[in-house]
Amino acid sequence: MKNILHIISSPKGEHGHSVKLARAIIKQLCNQHKECKIAERDLLAAELPYLDGLHISALFKNEAERSDDENQKLSYSDAVLREIKAADIIVLGAPMYNFGIHAALKAYIDQIVRFGHTIAYQRDGSRIGLLKDKVVYLAITAGGNYTNSGFDPVNDYIVNYLQTILNYMGIETIIPLIIEGTAAPDFMVDYDQICNDIQSATAVS
Ligand SMILES: Cc1cc2nc3c(=O)[nH]c(=O)nc-3n(C[C@H](O)[C@H](O)[C@H](O)COP(=O)(O)O)c2cc1C
Repeated sequence: MKNILHIISSPKGEHGHSVKLARAIIKQLCNQHKECKIAERDLLAAELPYLDGLHISALFKNEAERSDDENQKLSYSDAVLREIKAADIIVLGAPMYNFGIHAALKAYIDQIVRFGHTIAYQRDGSRIGLLKDKVVYLAITAGGNYTNSGFDPVNDYIVNYLQTILNYMGIETIIPLIIEGTAAPDFMVDYDQICNDIQSATAVS
């Protein structure tokens, strides 16, 4: 049985190409694994908390030391951490907006990168990521088509960033699936076709 977490960061909901790509990835994964339980976290469904002063002061205290306001401030983080820890496979939708990830996805990442939960220091002072044995599929979409243009914002600003932050939290297997050119008037794509050979898709390292 595999727990799959689908994270949505497209403001276009069901019309988002990254949502459709992620759903095709999940379909393939569920064909491979006997049983799948799918959870969904739509980052555009409600306003996300941002890192502010109260949040940061709460991060440096243990639960008993925190004020009610500080504990309340961390409640969203607590909920999304429970969800991501429970997942075996994460399908992370990451559409390109203004050459980077959507602000909602950055806000979400700020909630899940947390000492004692996703990162920790060891006795010798070295840092380790705590999200072990998870696989992340990145469903990346961009309106532009950058292939052969000498400019690669998809890999430079999205894949590299997500790989860095996921590695930081201990996730080592990261498999990007990318669709470019969604803004072209004649754009057509077979999402299932892109995911057909998901097993042989290459992980970034
Ligand atoms: C405000 C805005 C900014 C965008 N910025 C970029 C961009 O910097 N580069 C790009 O290639 N496409 C850009 N796009 C196009 C989106 O990447 C494209 O619509 C993509 O399909 C979004 O993924 P989604 O359909 O899953 O939301 C932008 C679209 C909007 C509405």
